[in-house]
Amino acid sequence: MSRARTLKVGIVGLGRLGRRHAENLMSRVAGAELVAACSPLPAELEWARDTLQVPHLYADYGALLAHDGLDAVFLVTPTSLHPQQIIQALQAGKHVFCEKPLSLDLEDCRRVSAEAARHPQLKVMIGFVRRFDASYQDAYKKIQQGAIGAPFMVYSQTCDQYDPDGFFVKFAATSGGIFLDCSVHDIDLARWLLGNPRAVRVYAGGTRAIHQDLQQFQDVDNGVAICEFDNGKIATFYASRTMAHGHDTMTEITGTAGRLTVGSNPRKNRVEIADVHGVRNECLPSFFERFEDAFLTEVSTFVDAIRREQKLELTLDDATEATRIGIALRESLLSGQAVLL
Ligand code: NAI
Repeated sequence: MSRARTLKVGIVGLGRLGRRHAENLMSRVAGAELVAACSPLPAELEWARDTLQVPHLYADYGALLAHDGLDAVFLVTPTSLHPQQIIQALQAGKHVFCEKPLSLDLEDCRRVSAEAARHPQLKVMIGFVRRFDASYQDAYKKIQQGAIGAPFMVYSQTCDQYDPDGFFVKFAATSGGIFLDCSVHDIDLARWLLGNPRAVRVYAGGTRAIHQDLQQFQDVDNGVAICEFDNGKIATFYASRTMAHGHDTMTEITGTAGRLTVGSNPRKNRVEIADVHGVRNECLPSFFERFEDAFLTEVSTFVDAIRREQKLELTLDDATEATRIGIALRESLLSGQAVLL
């Protein structure tokens, strides 16, 4: 492929996050052209036609893959569909961006890696968006430059604002539970920031602070975990669905010569309100406002890597390890025991 050629891309899934990716791909990503969209829901295809003027619409994924001249697909579909849809795309000769997590099943992760190995000319990237956030990138660079000496411990949390309509309770039936759905971001970050180690032992616990109905899915609305790695480093994770104040995602990396903290004040912007209640900031409402720029950088990185034939730093192996650890955390939560990996 000529380096200058614009990539023709198709998006699959136009739900909560798919629409955001579609909007970015339509107008904000240099070198990519959104030519097709796929969803089983007619209303979502109408949205793509009416709002973004996407020229080709498909209710069937196989038909989208057969679209003439398509270079890459963006899968923003339910997690249970990811492995099979990635494999189908690779077999159709398409580059693949797929939302996190890669899968809830380790065997499926390995099937995807095996298929990807058969198509070394095609790129596959799983959307661990936080790696592409400017503050996390800066923290990573500082660690590489030795700013905190040898990093040995990460604390990382993903805490969503409480949503009283409880959509995540229904979502729990297919999400894999709080660790595979939320902490998977923190797991990926911890490995990235601590030199890509593998987990050797995990322990997890949790509570249903508000949503007792999560019991039917053996899930919790607040979970904590400890993860020990094969390079002797450790991480602790906290995930919550019930934050009163807003979306509160933060990470702290401790090293032998200092500490870095990313996002300790989850403020919406730089406006400070001083009144009879005191001095305060408004909080970010959701992950999207927090990572809006990172979602764009992530997709641009993927598109550039294809166009310039560059290696992607974030690999399928990373995504598989994140799932492996997430599964172990769930096992530990359910058994009440530490899990050796
Ligand atoms: P959603 O339920 O809002 O959207 C799913 C979409 O997939 C819908 O448009 C649905 O019509 C479509 N779909 C369902 N079956 C399909 C099929 N057979 N073929 C084509 N399309 C199909 O879900 P949401 O929240 O947008 O999540 C999608 C993925 O994105 C999940 O894997 C989730 O884990 C991930 N996600 C990642 C986030 C991040 O921070 N990176 C944040 C939110 C979600």
